[in-house]
Amino acid sequence: MTTDTTEQYREWINFGIQLAKRAGTMMVTASGRNTSIEEKSCATDLVTETDKAVEAYLFSEIKKKYPHHKTIGEESSSDTHYELSDEATWIIDPVDGTMNFVHTFDFCCVSIGITHKKEPVVGIVYNPFLNKLFTAIKNCGSYCNGSPIHVRATSSLKDALVIVEMGSDNENNRRDAVCANVQALAWKCHGLRALGSAAMNICTVASGQADAYFEFGLHCWDMAASAVIASEAGAVVVDTQLGPLDLMNRRILVASSESLAKQLSQTLVLHPQLKRD
Ligand code: IPD
Repeated sequence: MTTDTTEQYREWINFGIQLAKRAGTMMVTASGRNTSIEEKSCATDLVTETDKAVEAYLFSEIKKKYPHHKTIGEESSSDTHYELSDEATWIIDPVDGTMNFVHTFDFCCVSIGITHKKEPVVGIVYNPFLNKLFTAIKNCGSYCNGSPIHVRATSSLKDALVIVEMGSDNENNRRDAVCANVQALAWKCHGLRALGSAAMNICTVASGQADAYFEFGLHCWDMAASAVIASEAGAVVVDTQLGPLDLMNRRILVASSESLAKQLSQTLVLHPQLKRD
């Protein structure tokens, strides 16, 4: 990566941080006051007017500033075909952890990732309720509120705090895998946690407060930003069967060391292959 490219990423991240902060203000202002809460694929998959308003705001500001950049967002791209291109592509989850947001449970965030030449290069995850701003540029380290963060290098599953998720949709084979994998993991590690925001989960591993996380059923907007943040914090960020992360393949495993990633992957009894994005 040349100095010029890094400078360009720096310009993008600075603009993205300004947008994330304004999005955060929109979330705080709307918290506990949503009047429109709709179901998407099922009763556990929700969207509020704030998700829509934040995404519309971010898209319009990005288009004004960078008319040639591409955008993918949870609320406007879910029903369309989307793919990565070589152009800079802003991948947005306006409110990651919408169910938490609806319940005023403060583990939710705005997630803004940028891919360039199909590779995640910039990540911004902002939780305005906990006042945590996670940022990273590829090859430049990972930060929370401007201070460097790093994984806690746990090498053994038995010593690990592992984050799992139930996920928001109710596809049968995915639900079966959640139950089987939780059963396989429980009591083999220090503990399991399910907190309700993929982007925040990944940043929690990145900052050393948990040791691993995996999920089946995610979309690129849930993980694009935090994947860069975790990699830059020293995490192993891969497919659940340890291949390279594929943002469109709906599976992720994040661990604080190679050895932990391997033990976790081997302990999971089911690795469902879901329909690709
Ligand atoms: C969801 C959250 C949740 C995860 C789901 C995601 P959303 O995102 O990240 O933790 O388990 O898979 O869909 O819908 O709140 O943006």
